[in-house]
Amino acid sequence: MCGIIGYTGNKDVTEMLLDTLEMLEYRGYDSAGIAVSDTDGKIRIVKCAGRVKELRHLFGSSQINGNSGMGHTRWATHGGVTDQNAHPHRYGHITLIHNGIIENYRELKEKYQLQDMLNSETDTEIVAGVINHFYNGDPLDAIRKSVVKLKGTFALVIMFDDFPDTIFAIRNVSPIVVSSSNEGNVLASDVAAVCQFSKEYFVLPELHTIVMNRECVLLYDLSGECVEPDILTADWELGQNGKGGFPFYMEKEIMEQPEVIQKTIEGRIVNGLPFFSKDEVTDEILKECNRICVVACGTAMHAGLVGQVLAQSVLGIHMDVELASEFMYADPVIDDQTLVIAISQSGETIDTLEALKYAKRAGAKTLSIINVRGASIARESDYVIYTYAGPEVAVASTKAYTTQLSVLYLLTARMALVRGVLNEGEVRTFISELQRTPEMVDQVLQKRDQIHKMARRVLDARDTFMIGRGLDYSILLEGSLKLKEISYIHSEAYASGELKHGTIALITDKTPVVAMVTQSRLKDKEMSNIREVCSRGAKVMLFTRESFQISGMDEWSEVFELPDMQDLFMVLPASVALQLFAYYVSADKGYDVDKPRNLAKVVTVE
Ligand code: F6R
Repeated sequence: MCGIIGYTGNKDVTEMLLDTLEMLEYRGYDSAGIAVSDTDGKIRIVKCAGRVKELRHLFGSSQINGNSGMGHTRWATHGGVTDQNAHPHRYGHITLIHNGIIENYRELKEKYQLQDMLNSETDTEIVAGVINHFYNGDPLDAIRKSVVKLKGTFALVIMFDDFPDTIFAIRNVSPIVVSSSNEGNVLASDVAAVCQFSKEYFVLPELHTIVMNRECVLLYDLSGECVEPDILTADWELGQNGKGGFPFYMEKEIMEQPEVIQKTIEGRIVNGLPFFSKDEVTDEILKECNRICVVACGTAMHAGLVGQVLAQSVLGIHMDVELASEFMYADPVIDDQTLVIAISQSGETIDTLEALKYAKRAGAKTLSIINVRGASIARESDYVIYTYAGPEVAVASTKAYTTQLSVLYLLTARMALVRGVLNEGEVRTFISELQRTPEMVDQVLQKRDQIHKMARRVLDARDTFMIGRGLDYSILLEGSLKLKEISYIHSEAYASGELKHGTIALITDKTPVVAMVTQSRLKDKEMSNIREVCSRGAKVMLFTRESFQISGMDEWSEVFELPDMQDLFMVLPASVALQLFAYYVSADKGYDVDKPRNLAKVVTVE
C-alpha cells in the first residue's frame, strides 16, 4: 500500500512526481504529497488529504523548480485522512516518506522524547524523529542506527537538509525498485513506475541502503559495504492507451479478458497438451506431492477455490485453500510432500508473502501464480508461473482472476497427465475445452447490455444475496466480493442449500437475489432453492446456461443465458458476467469504479 516515487536527474521534478503519483494512485488515494529540493537547495513540501488531482491543484500554474524530490500517495494506517497526516513528514533535518507499519512507534516516541515536535498522528513522523536523533552529519550512519530500532515493515525514502539533491532509501519487506537512465535515477514502490525510464531495474535488497544522486546510484549493506545490485529486465509493457476510450479501467480490463486468457494459455499448449517447461516448473513437483495447499487473499483466494474443485474432481487429490492472513495461525499441516501454491496478482500482498515463507520453513515445495514480474512472492517461490494479464489498474481485480483460473486449468491438466490420472486423449479433450474459453467469454461481453439491464434492478438495494451450489457457489463468492467492493451494497454469497438453516429469515421482497445455475448435476436442487426464495418475495436475477432451457422464465425478474461449456469450465463465462454486473451497478450509482473507498490495489500491510 502507499505509492512511492523518488527521482533525481535532469527532468523538472514537480511535474514528473505528480504524473508518476497519478500512475501510482491505485496503491492508495487518501492523501498525496511531494518534497522537492528547490533551486536554492531548500527542501519544500506540498501535501494534502485527497487525490493527486487535488495536490496538483495546489500548485496552480506555478511549480517548485528543482531536479530532485520524492512523492507519496497514502493509504492511511496510523492517523486519520488529514493534511497533517499526509506524507512527506519532516522532523529536524529529515524529510521522509514511508510505506508500511512501524509497530513500536509509541515506545520510540517516548524513548527519543519526540512528542514536542510532532505535527501528525503518524508512525512515519516518529521514524523521521528517530533518524534526526541519530543524525550527526553522516546520513548513512543515522539510517543504519535508526532502522535497527524499528519493528515492523517499511519502505523509507529520506532527504536530508544537508544533502538536498541526494535521495536515500531503505526497506524491510515493503518493496522498492530502482532504475537508472540518461534522464536520471529513480526509485519507486512499483516496477511500472520505474519502467517509464528504463526496462533495467533492481530490487532494493532488504535492509540495504540506496544513495542516489544525479550522477550515480550506490547500494550499501548494513555494515556499510558497497554491494553490486542484481539487475533485472522488465518484460512488462505499460498500457500506452490509458483507459482505451472506456470510462473506467475496470471496463477496459473486463473487455481485455478474451485476449489475455488466450495469451496466458497459448504458449503453454503444444500439440494439444499442457507444458510448463518454459516456466521451468518440473513434472517432479507436480507428481511427487500428496497434498496441495493454496494460500491467497480476496479474489486470488477465490481463484484457489475453483482450483480446489478441479484438483479434487479431476485429480482426486486433497487441496486446502487457506486465507493467507490466517494460514500460519491455524497450525497448518504441511511437510515436504505438500505443494503450496501462492496466488497473487501483485505478487506483493504481505499476508500471502508471509504465508509462503512460513510454508517454506515447514519444508513445503512452493509455486506461485503471479501477474507482476519479479515481485516479492515470485522471488521467494521455488517455481513461478506468470499470468499474462498485463497491468491491472482498477482496484477490483478482473482479468488477473480469469488468467489465474486459466493457469489453474492448465496446471490441473498437466498434473492429470504426469500423475497418470487422465490419458493423453482425455487431457487433449480437457485442453480443447479450455481453448474455447476466450470465445465464450467474448460471447458474454457481446451481450453486456442485457447484464446492464439486470444491474439496474439492484441499484437501490441495501442487501443482496447470491445463491448457488458447488462450483456455482465458488463463482458467486467472487461475484459477491466484486459487488460489495465497488458498489457498497451489502452482498452475501450463500450456498443455496444452506439458506433454510437460518439465513432465509433475511429474505424479503427488499432483498434482490442473484442466482447462478450452471452445473448439470446440481441444476434441479438449485432451482428448488431458488423457488424457496421466490416464495419469500425475493426478486431473482438468474444466470444460467443456454442449454438448460429453464422453464417458467416469467417467474424470474431477469434471466441471462451463458454460452454452453462443459460444467467445469462454466466458471469463466459466468465470472465475467458477474464482473459486468458489479461494474454496471457501481458506474450507474456514479461511483469512482476504479478507486473504491478504503481500498488500495497492493496490500503491503498485515
Ligand atoms: C478484489 C481484489 C483483492 C485482491 C487481494 C489480493 O477485487 O483485487 O481481493 O485479490 O487483495 O491481491 P493480490 O492478488 O495482489 O495478492
